[in-house]
This record gives sequence, structure tokens and C-alpha cells, in this order.
Amino acid sequence: MERMLQRLDRTRGDDQDAILMRLWRFVFPHAYAEETLVWPAIRAVADDGDETTLHIEEGHQKLSELTAALDRTPPGAPGRDDLIAEVVAELRLDIREEEDMLLPRLQAGLTPRQLRRLGLGWQLVRCTAPTRPHVAVSRRPPGNVLVAVPLSVLDRCRDRLDSMARRSSGRVRARAERASAVLSAVAGRVERLGPARRGERAPTRPGRWTVHRWLTEAMDARHPARARKTARS
Ligand SMILES: [Fe+2]
Repeated sequence: MERMLQRLDRTRGDDQDAILMRLWRFVFPHAYAEETLVWPAIRAVADDGDETTLHIEEGHQKLSELTAALDRTPPGAPGRDDLIAEVVAELRLDIREEEDMLLPRLQAGLTPRQLRRLGLGWQLVRCTAPTRPHVAVSRRPPGNVLVAVPLSVLDRCRDRLDSMARRSSGRVRARAERASAVLSAVAGRVERLGPARRGERAPTRPGRWTVHRWLTEAMDARHPARARKTARS
């Protein structure tokens, strides 16, 4: 993954989009399998499991919202490079926190046999999980489990259409892009269905990070000196 993150900086246009898609196909199924299978196991064995997994879930929600914003920002648009830099920073932080905070708790609470079974389950879930950010879906079961199948099918179809669009031009490209946009709208409807929110905790509700971002940008626009200070920190 580190190699993909480094290559993002050196590429632009369709090449950069292709790396981003490979990155999402790695990151989002990985996070989904953690949230549906591994974090519940940590909550069952560690006294502080609820608060530590909630902290990681907040990071996953922030990453999903940043990625969704990036999805809406076409190549060359202002702010796109900053969004990519934020996504990369958040991904590195997520890896560090999971390795430092969660994996030791898992190793302490489960037997080697239980760990192996959990790892196998995680692999199976990862292979069939959604591959894109779905900011409105609960980060905890049962909501994320209830809408996993339709979202996974829609995401994987979109991945193929987007790859086809990047490899084509003219009418074929336009049609593939249009079809992907239609599936994106359908996925948006699915993730806003009532059952998708079941199990959700307040700190991972959609929009929290987006509102925080708007407020920061509005404050920075009104107080340029503060913005320069924030940028340096
Ligand atoms: Fe993660």
C-alpha cells in the first residue's frame, strides 16, 4: 500500500484515478471486514474495546467522507491535491493506530486457534465487501451487514465501468461514465435506507467531519493569519 501512496504524488489524470481505484479496492473491503468481524471480537474480549474501536471507526468515517469528497472533485479542480494529501495522512494514521492499539488487544484476548479462525473469516468477508466509501451506512453491525450485498454488487460494477471508461474514448467512455453515475445514485439511495443506520454510534454519524471541515475553511477565510498558523502546525 505504501508504494501506491507514494505513486499517487507522481501521477495525474487517468493514471492517478487508476491508482486511487486500486487503493479503494484494497482499503474499503479491508475496513469493512474489520468493522463487521474483527472490532466486534475486540469488544467481546477487551475491557476498553468499545472506546478503542469507536476511535478507529471515527477515523474510518473521516476517511470515507474525504474519499467521497475526492470522488466529487474532478482531476485538475482546486483542492484535489489537498484532499489526496489528507486521505494519505489519514490512511497512514489508521494503520499506525490499528497496529499499536487494536492488534495487541486481539492477541492478548484470543487463543492462536481463535486468531486463525478470525483471520480466515476476515479474508472471506474482504473478498465480497463493498469497495467504495458509503458515508451514510452504520460502521457497526447490523446496519453495515444488512446493505453489504447490494452495495458490494453496485461498487464492483462501477469499478468495471470506470476502468472501461479510462481505457476508452468518445461515445464508449461517455456511456461508461454515465452508467457509473447512475449506479452511484442507486448506491446513494441504498445507503440511506433505514436499516443501513442500525447499530450506528453518534461519533460516526455522517457529516460530522464534513461540517468540521466547512467550519474550519470558513474560519480560515475570515482570519487568514489563523489559516497560515493552522497550515504550519
Ligand atoms: Fe482501518
